[in-house]
Amino acid sequence: MASSRFPLLLSLFLLLLLQPLFSTASLSRNALLRPELLSRSTPINATPPTLFFEVTKPIQLPNTKPCSYLILQHDFGYTYGKPPVFANYTPPSHCASKKFSKIVFEWNATCKGRQFDRIFGVWLGGVELLRSCTAEPRATGIVWSVQKDITRYYSLLMKNQTLAVFLGNIITSIYTGVYHVNITIHFYPELNSDNSLSEYQSPADLILPISRNQPLNDGLWFEIENSTDIELKEFKIPQNSYRALLEVYVSYHENDEFWYLNPTNDYIEANNLTGTPGNGPFREVVVSLDGEVVGAIWPFTVIYTGGVNPLLWRPITGIGSFNLPSYNIEITPFLGKILDGKAHKLGFSVTNALNVWYVDANLHLWLDGKSSKIEGELLKHISSPDVVSVVSDFKGLNGTFLTSVSRSISSTGWLKSSLGNITTHWVQNFSYSNSMVMGNDGNLQIVDQIIHFNDSAQAKIPSSSVYSTKSHKKYAVYLYYNTFDQGNGTSFSLENLTLGFNENNAEAAGFGLSKSSLKNVQNAQGYMAVKDNLVTSGLGSTQQVYKYDGGNFCYFRNISSSNYTILYDEVRDKCHRRARTHIGPGLSRWRPFHARTAFLASGHIA
Ligand SMILES: *[C@@H]1O[C@H](CO)[C@@H](O)[C@H](O)[C@H]1NC(C)=O
Ligand SMILES: *[C@@H]1O[C@H](CO)[C@@H](O)[C@H](O)[C@H]1NC(C)=O
Ligand SMILES: *[C@@H]1O[C@H](CO)[C@@H](O)[C@H](O)[C@H]1NC(C)=O
Ligand SMILES: *[C@@H]1O[C@H](CO)[C@@H](O)[C@H](O)[C@H]1NC(C)=O
Ligand SMILES: *[C@@H]1O[C@H](CO)[C@@H](O)[C@H](O)[C@H]1NC(C)=O
Ligand SMILES: *[C@@H]1O[C@H](CO)[C@@H](O)[C@H](O)[C@H]1NC(C)=O
Ligand SMILES: *[C@@H]1O[C@H](CO)[C@@H](O)[C@H](O)[C@H]1NC(C)=O
Ligand SMILES: *[C@@H]1O[C@H](CO)[C@@H](O)[C@H](O)[C@H]1NC(C)=O
Ligand SMILES: *[C@@H]1O[C@H](CO)[C@@H](O)[C@H](O)[C@H]1NC(C)=O
Ligand SMILES: *[C@@H]1O[C@H](CO)[C@@H](O)[C@H](O)[C@H]1NC(C)=O
Ligand SMILES: *[C@@H]1O[C@H](CO)[C@@H](O)[C@H](O)[C@H]1NC(C)=O
Ligand SMILES: *[C@@H]1O[C@H](CO)[C@@H](O)[C@H](O)[C@H]1NC(C)=O
Repeated sequence: MASSRFPLLLSLFLLLLLQPLFSTASLSRNALLRPELLSRSTPINATPPTLFFEVTKPIQLPNTKPCSYLILQHDFGYTYGKPPVFANYTPPSHCASKKFSKIVFEWNATCKGRQFDRIFGVWLGGVELLRSCTAEPRATGIVWSVQKDITRYYSLLMKNQTLAVFLGNIITSIYTGVYHVNITIHFYPELNSDNSLSEYQSPADLILPISRNQPLNDGLWFEIENSTDIELKEFKIPQNSYRALLEVYVSYHENDEFWYLNPTNDYIEANNLTGTPGNGPFREVVVSLDGEVVGAIWPFTVIYTGGVNPLLWRPITGIGSFNLPSYNIEITPFLGKILDGKAHKLGFSVTNALNVWYVDANLHLWLDGKSSKIEGELLKHISSPDVVSVVSDFKGLNGTFLTSVSRSISSTGWLKSSLGNITTHWVQNFSYSNSMVMGNDGNLQIVDQIIHFNDSAQAKIPSSSVYSTKSHKKYAVYLYYNTFDQGNGTSFSLENLTLGFNENNAEAAGFGLSKSSLKNVQNAQGYMAVKDNLVTSGLGSTQQVYKYDGGNFCYFRNISSSNYTILYDEVRDKCHRRARTHIGPGLSRWRPFHARTAFLASGHIA
C-alpha cells in the first residue's frame, strides 16, 4: 500500500468480502491493484536473500577514499502511529579533509517474512533528503540498497542536525516482516586538483525546511486530503538571498495511489459505484507564495513495489519507487517580495485530490557574501488557469474518456546584488492527455497518459546572459488491466504496463553549454489469480532500457527479468563518441548556473 495507513486496506478488504455480487473490478479497483503476494515457498536457511534494485545510473564518484559513517541502525517493527525515529547527526570529524566534492547517502535494508510495501521519508534538520518505498519481502528474505547523491544539501550536512526517519510499519502474527535498516553517509574528500570542480558545483548556502514542524505520530510531510485542502508553512529568509529554488517532494496514497486510473465522478454516480475513487485522472500539485501561484508540479506516476501486480517488481523495481523524484520551482523572480525580513507563507494544494497526498519542500537559498541587503522587484507574473477538456462517452460500465489539460506559469523579476542588476525569467509549460477505455462491463481498463513538463530559467544582466537552463520532461504511463471473475471468490487478471521517464536538459552560461538526456522505459506484463486479496498464483516479467547521455558521462542498461530471474542484462558506461561538453573558463563566478549544473549532474532523476 506504500502507506502508513492500515485501516483503509482493511476496509477495502471488507468491501470485497461483503459485496460479492458486484464485479470485482467495478467494486474496488484499488484493492485489486494492490493484492498481497503470499510467498508459499518454505524458508530454507541456506537460501540467500534476493537482491531487489532500481535501474539507474551510478553516481559519478571522485577518485578519493570516502570517509563513511553509519548514521542510523534501526529495526522498523511496529512503528505505525509512532513518531519518526530520530538520531543525532554531526558532520564528519574523523576526516582528514574538511572539504568534500561528493556526499552520498546510502540506505541498506533487509526484510524477511510477510509485509506490505511502506512509504518512508528521511529528513535532516527538517529538510527532506529521500522519499522512498520499501521493497516487499519474501519468506526467504530480501535485501536492497538505495544510493543518492546528496551533495546538493552540502551546507546542511556541515552542521549538527537531527536526522528523522518515518516508516510506518505494522507487525502482527501474520505481518511478520521487520525492516532492518542501516543509513550510512559517505563523504568523498575534495582533491586539490578538484578546486575548479567544487567551485563549479556550488550547492545552496542555506536550505530551509518547508515541512511540518511537529510530526507527532507521522512523517514530516504535510497530508493533503482533498481538493480544497491547503497546507501552509511560514518561513523567513535572509535579506541577502540572491537566488531561491524550491525543491518539492510528493507521493500519493490510498484513494489517489493510482490517480491516473481514477474514473470521472459522473461515471461513478451513473453506475452507483461505491469504493471506487473518482475525481477523474488529472492531478496537479500547486505551490503558492502568500496566496499567489508560483509554480506547479505534474508528477511522474511512480508505482510502488506492491502496485498493479507485485510480481512485476521482483527483482527490478518500478521507475522512481526506491528514490522518488523531487521537482524544482524557481522562486528567484519573487525574491523582491520576500526580502523584507518578514515572515511569508508557502502553500501546497492538489487539484482534484482524494485522500491522501504527502507533500513537503526544501527552500534552497544562495546568499550574497558582499551584501547584507538585496533589493528587487517582481516585474511580471502570469499564472493562467488549467485549460481542461473532458470528452466522455459511456453506457453502463463501458466507455471512453479523453482528458486533456494544459497550463503555463511564468514570472520575471529583478534583483540588485553585488553581481549587478540581474533579471530572472522563469517559465513552466505543461500539457497532459489521458485516454481511458472501460470495457468488459468495467472489468477492463486501458489507460494511456502522457505529461509534458517543460521549464526554463534565464538570468540576465543588461548586457548579457548570466545563465540559462531549459528542461523537457515527458512522463508516460500505459496500463492494460483486464479482470475475470472466476466465480469462486477468485479473480484472474492480466496486466500490461509501460512506464516512461524521459528528460532533456540544457544549460548555458556565456560560451559554456552542457546538455544531458535520459530515456528510461519499462515494459511489464503479468497475470495473477487473486483470492481474498492474496495472490494465489501468477507471473510477472519486466524489461527496461535506460539510456543516459551527460556529454562526458554516459550510461546504458538493457535488462529483463521474469519470475524473479534476470534473463539478460547489458550494461555500458562509455559514451560512443567524443565528449562534447565545454564549460568555458571564468564562469565560476556565476554560482546560480553552477549550482543548477551540480544538481543536474547528481544522481537525481527530477
Ligand atoms: C550496502 O549495500 C550495497 C549493495 O549490496 C553494498 O555494496 C554496500 O557495501 C553496502 N553498504 C554498507 C555500508 O554496508
Ligand atoms: C548494518 O550494519 C551492521 C553493523 O555493521 C551489520 O551487521 C548489518 O548486517 C547491517 N545491516 C544491513 C541491513 O546492511
Ligand atoms: C556538535 O555535536 C558534537 C557532538 O555532540 C559536539 O561535540 C559539538 O560541540 C557540536 N557542535 C556544535 C557547533 O554545536
Ligand atoms: C478537506 O480537508 C480539510 C483538511 O483535513 C478539512 O478540514 C475539510 O473539511 C475537507 N473538506 C472537505 C470538503 O471534505
Ligand atoms: C442506481 O441507483 C438508483 C437509485 O437507487 C437506481 O434508480 C438506478 O437504477 C441505479 N443504477 C444502476 C446502474 O444500478
Ligand atoms: C534593474 O533592472 C530592471 C529591469 O531592467 C529595472 O526595471 C530596474 O529598475 C533595475 N533596478 C535598478 C536598481 O537599477
Ligand atoms: C515541451 O517541449 C517539447 C520538446 O521541445 C515539445 O515537443 C512539447 O510540445 C513541449 N510541451 C509544452 C507543453 O511546452
Ligand atoms: C460492455 O461491453 C461488453 C464487451 O466488452 C459487452 O459484452 C457488454 O454487453 C457491454 N455492456 C453494456 C452495458 O453495453
Ligand atoms: C513555453 O511556451 C511559450 C509559449 O508557447 C514558449 O514561448 C516558450 O518557449 C515555452 N517555454 C518552455 C520552456 O517550454
Ligand atoms: C476458481 O475457479 C477457477 C476456474 O473456474 C479455477 O481455475 C480455480 O482453481 C478456482 N480457484 C479456487 C481457489 O477454487
Ligand atoms: C502487452 O505487451 C506486449 C509486449 O509489450 C504486447 O506485445 C501486447 O500486444 C500487449 N497486449 C495488450 C493487450 O496490450
Ligand atoms: C517461477 O519460478 C519458480 C521457481 O523459482 C517455479 O516454481 C514456478 O513454476 C515459476 N512460475 C512460472 C509461472 O513459471
